[in-house]
Amino acid sequence: MIPILRTVAAMRAQVAAWKAEGHAVGVVPTMGALHEGHLSLARAAKRDCGRVVTTIFVNPKQFNNPEDLLKYPRTEDSDARLLSGVGVDAIFAPAVDEVYPEGFVTTVSVGGVSGPLEGELRPGHFDGVATVVAKLFGMTQADRAYFGQKDWQQLQVVRRLVRDLNLAVAIVGCETVREADGLAMSSRNARLDAKARAKAGALYAAMMRAAAEFRAGVPEAEAIALATAAVLAGGFDSVEYIALRDAETLGPMVDAGRPLRMLAAAWLDGVRLIDNIAV
Ligand code: PAJ
Repeated sequence: MIPILRTVAAMRAQVAAWKAEGHAVGVVPTMGALHEGHLSLARAAKRDCGRVVTTIFVNPKQFNNPEDLLKYPRTEDSDARLLSGVGVDAIFAPAVDEVYPEGFVTTVSVGGVSGPLEGELRPGHFDGVATVVAKLFGMTQADRAYFGQKDWQQLQVVRRLVRDLNLAVAIVGCETVREADGLAMSSRNARLDAKARAKAGALYAAMMRAAAEFRAGVPEAEAIALATAAVLAGGFDSVEYIALRDAETLGPMVDAGRPLRMLAAAWLDGVRLIDNIAV
């Protein structure tokens, strides 16, 4: 069975032993309830690194809604089986007070890229993410860390964090894994009933169409308005945003020569879905 480490000391000792044997160490940070999207990160890490640890920690600091934190699925036994199956070498699953012991007062706040979109709609969320990710890098001492493009803004926040603090970890961004109808895999998809699930592919389809229209010369505002209308017509309850942004800063596109990203958040049947695509 795959070892499950609970303390920072045990994690550090394991990584020190791996490094002494000459292995590069990869980390895949997660909050558990693992699906094929998470496993694709673990497989990428296994391809590059001699040893891989997956962290499973439902980080209270990044939830702005206490009920969302309580409802977050916890499925450690099945997660461990799945990670065993892809050859992950260890799981780091610390308790909350191991990560945030009595007296903990530090917050890591990445400016700029944390501000718009998810940053506006979920105040404090990216501070929670940056703080725990910085700690996970410190606790695991990994050489490489794997993140999904599914959470595009989070990936840019982590890249900025690593650059700004000179952290000695290489960040690898991995493609979004999707269902057959284009729906990006997410632990939240399980909360959709069959009727809502059948509508969920409309978000990706509308974004792909809007991106193609924009590339073909349709003005930004018009492409976004058409996509929003298509998502609502497809049965979504509301659209929080569909936006075309600079792919790195997440600010408005200023220079058409720089990479662009289309990002979206929308509600379907009481579930908040987010997605993004290259433009
Ligand atoms: P979590 O939502 O569990 O996601 C863990 C990692 O899996 C993230 O890097 C996320 O982008 C990636 N992921 C999720 N769905 C994916 C998909 N369909 N395709 C590819 N990758 C996917 O993101 C977090 O946890 C937390 O914020 C964390 C970084 C662990 C910090 O607490």
